[in-house]
Amino acid sequence: MFTKEETACVFKGDIIGREIIYLESSASTNDSAFEIGRERTGPDGIVVVAEMQTKGRGRLGRNWVSPAGVNLYFTVLLSPPFPPEEASLMTLAAPVAIASAVIKYTGLAAQIKWPNDIMINGKKTGGVLIEMKSGKAASHLLAVGIGINVNMSPDVLPSEIRPLATSLKMEKGESISRSELLGAILADLEHTYKNLLNGNKRALINEWLRLNCTIGKRVSVRDHARTITGTADSINERGELIVKLFTGETETVRAGDVTILKN
Ligand code: BTN
Repeated sequence: MFTKEETACVFKGDIIGREIIYLESSASTNDSAFEIGRERTGPDGIVVVAEMQTKGRGRLGRNWVSPAGVNLYFTVLLSPPFPPEEASLMTLAAPVAIASAVIKYTGLAAQIKWPNDIMINGKKTGGVLIEMKSGKAASHLLAVGIGINVNMSPDVLPSEIRPLATSLKMEKGESISRSELLGAILADLEHTYKNLLNGNKRALINEWLRLNCTIGKRVSVRDHARTITGTADSINERGELIVKLFTGETETVRAGDVTILKN
């Protein structure tokens, strides 16, 4: 069960979840959130949750399969006081909150694959799509869009993704309450966002490092135009991935897709 009434009271933080808007259907909760945000003077922390999406988007122009009744699709709108270039740190804050909440709520060993895929036993169960627009006055609005495969059976997914994806129910062997998990994620997101607002970048980066499954691994990273192969060495203060190539040189990657190679 996942109802408007249930979602309205899953979590109410000082910032996040001050208002939770439930939609039976949305093209994409990021789009719905931007529309709502344009009309409001204080949109910081508004959460838009949809039961299903008709045009769910993933990173790098991909689709996000969003059937009704089984998963979580939601967007947290933020209007952070820090400059747009710092906003990239939400790319780290969101997966830290999701992975921590999944671990606490389900007991599953959730990990983060750079930049913000949520993995369990090497398979993807969630992702984050962050988009930015200018808001009222000089502010900018961030839509932190989160999709988690909660109770979905993977045969709904296109065959090429199926071997790489999973759901919490598949891993746990039992159904998970979507509304309680949503509340747990929003509570952790409030905590990580406040860390950022307090300038506590180091705590956030340390948490990301603790939860990640990428650093130290042999990886191949595909960004827009090329693929590089090497060892994932570290992340920097902007959340970019530093890769040590097999030639000994170092490359910094801003956005891309990581495949962890078998040793
Ligand atoms: C990815 O891993 O590629 C990111 C997936 C993000 C999916 C979520 S679902 C809620 C929000 N609305 C969208 O259209 N996308 C994000």
